Amino acid sequence: MSQIGFYRDENDDLNVQGIKISSLAEKYGTPLFIYDSGLMRESYNIFLDTIKEVKGNIHYAVKANDALSIISYFAQLGCGADIVSIGEFQKCVAAGMPPQKIIFSGVGKDNSEIEFALKNNVLQFNIESEEELNDIYKIASRLKLTANICLRVNPDIAPKTHKKISTGEKETKFGIDFQSVDSIYKKLHQLKYINPVGLGVHIGSQIFDFDFFYRAYLNLKKLADDLKSSGYNVPTLDLGGGIGINYNKSLKPDFSNYKEVVLDLFENTDYQLSFEPGRSLIAEAGVLITKVIRNKKTKDKHFIIVDAAMNNLIRPTLYDAYHRIETVKKTSKPEIIADIVGPICETGDFLALDRRINKVNNNDLLAIRTTGAYSSVMKSNYNARKDAIEVMIYKHKDFQIKKNESIKDIISKEKLIVFD
Ligand code: LLP
Repeated sequence: MSQIGFYRDENDDLNVQGIKISSLAEKYGTPLFIYDSGLMRESYNIFLDTIKEVKGNIHYAVKANDALSIISYFAQLGCGADIVSIGEFQKCVAAGMPPQKIIFSGVGKDNSEIEFALKNNVLQFNIESEEELNDIYKIASRLKLTANICLRVNPDIAPKTHKKISTGEKETKFGIDFQSVDSIYKKLHQLKYINPVGLGVHIGSQIFDFDFFYRAYLNLKKLADDLKSSGYNVPTLDLGGGIGINYNKSLKPDFSNYKEVVLDLFENTDYQLSFEPGRSLIAEAGVLITKVIRNKKTKDKHFIIVDAAMNNLIRPTLYDAYHRIETVKKTSKPEIIADIVGPICETGDFLALDRRINKVNNNDLLAIRTTGAYSSVMKSNYNARKDAIEVMIYKHKDFQIKKNESIKDIISKEKLIVFD
């Protein structure tokens, strides 16, 4: 019987749903992303169970991983989506996600994006400024279509997380400052073609101290309660995403602390809640498989040079992020301390620094864990490098969900003009 997620078989080789990871690497080549649908479903179900005592909908934040088959899988499970560009909207629609389940977030929706989403029946716009409201109002009036509007509040709360993914402080570009929310929400009621649907917050990502969620949600609820007691309609509250996950160990998702916060504040209220988890639904369900190109030893250091690079996984260099790295096949070789680096010509091109790892030979395979979220979506072709193939495992079978671009594809996007 195989287990959920990535596990070691009786030979201590890495497997997923009864399939050896090494056989997938041989079939598809490396670098290779592999996703386990079993773990995605389990995480989704645990989240669903977390919110079962309140009225709530899950809108998967597709920015975490916008592969069509992944969006489609979550849609099949009953999930809606949270998007931040019209490109993501079109990917959702292409994947079969009903537009009526899509929340359009983001600080910089341009007019053509607003028009497209409105014409195509997006559920709601989470807006981040009065200026954005004015733009939506003009477009909705011209089209004679009603826009559902939720105000994203900036609660001026700094959760303890990496500064590049912290979004709740007043110095960031996100949300409407707390003091202005009341008057803008009231203004919504005076505008034809504008339908106020509520308030929202999203204070950042990879958050562990749930007290920050508690404070942000409490502030949001107070604002909403006050508006309601003045006679305004506030049917929904969007609580955003941001639940932190453990990159150090492979753990079953546990949202019990989050549940406490949500129940404490909302159990006996009639707010319709929206949740926008990204990372916590998909990160652990992905691995990035890479092959060792060579070992390079200097007087001071041991470098393991692999065929995945910062163009496949930028998180370590961008956020100082830690990803577990392990050999795909059993090994009894001694441990060393090494930097695991890609071939890109920058010192910043690393996957791990000073990492304790078993010695490896050329062509050995390594698994970079917890790379289902914010990994392949942040890829680039830097150094004219190809991206990775992506495979999803469903019912003990592997399905290729993305091919990689060939160098020919990359060249074909350009137009050569010879200026003599
Ligand atoms: N809702 C909104 C409005 C968001 O901006 C985000 C993430 C989410 C939901 C989902 O948050 P999650 O549950 O995934 O934490 N690239 C970074 C993470 C950026 C997160 C951006 N916003 C990383 O690799 O850590």
